[in-house]
Amino acid sequence: MKWFLRFGLGLCLMTLVWGWQPALAQAEVNPAELAKAVEAVENLDALRSGLASYLKDAPEPPTADTMKQVCKPVGMKAMELSKENGWQVKQLAKKYRNPDHALDTPHATMALAKFEQNPELMGLWEKETLNGQPGTRYYRRINVEASCLACHGMKSSRPDFVKANYPQDLAYDFKEGDLRGMYAVFIPDVQQALQEAVSP
Ligand code: HEC
Repeated sequence: MKWFLRFGLGLCLMTLVWGWQPALAQAEVNPAELAKAVEAVENLDALRSGLASYLKDAPEPPTADTMKQVCKPVGMKAMELSKENGWQVKQLAKKYRNPDHALDTPHATMALAKFEQNPELMGLWEKETLNGQPGTRYYRRINVEASCLACHGMKSSRPDFVKANYPQDLAYDFKEGDLRGMYAVFIPDVQQALQEAVSP
């Protein structure tokens, strides 16, 4: 079974358990929302894989413009998802290309270390407080595929637009199967948000 189906089943089971304990449910993440975040991240990852493999297999050599259409759209879609859902959706990496994607909290650094130590680990979530807001952060690993190496492979073979636009670039010298980074979705506690909305 695909790992996220198993994950989904687990979430359903937890919904059941939480259903019997309404008092507890209020303090924990809403399982339906977590499931929605898991699915959104799967789609986001599939978007990138699709764009990268399209570029790799395209009959025409890529132009400067098509080259830009792989990871930038993923960042834009992440922003869209944040706005639509009231989440914060980010990509995080130790070896980042865009400095906006540097690891941003000690929790995030620990999550990445867990993915590093355990190549089978696909996702995890934790209760966290981000910018003073309590909530849940869902992390999902990003692996390097063969199609990524055109831009994240050897330093010297990076496309010109990368060399020119990302002077601080660290996101090269990867090999297929390496851990590239992770997605991080912060879901603020709804209960908390509601309380804040009604308090004067
Ligand atoms: C055509 C070039 C290109 C290809 C192919 C490519 N990337 Fe990227 N990647 C980039 C650029 C450029 C950025 C920085 C985008 C930005 O400014 O947000 C980036 C950023 C990222 C980031 C965000 C973290 C960071 O370093 O800023 C991740 C994660 C990532 N790429 C993973 C992948 C994966 C996985 C693949 C293959 C499935 C892939 N990339 C294929 C060019 C590429």
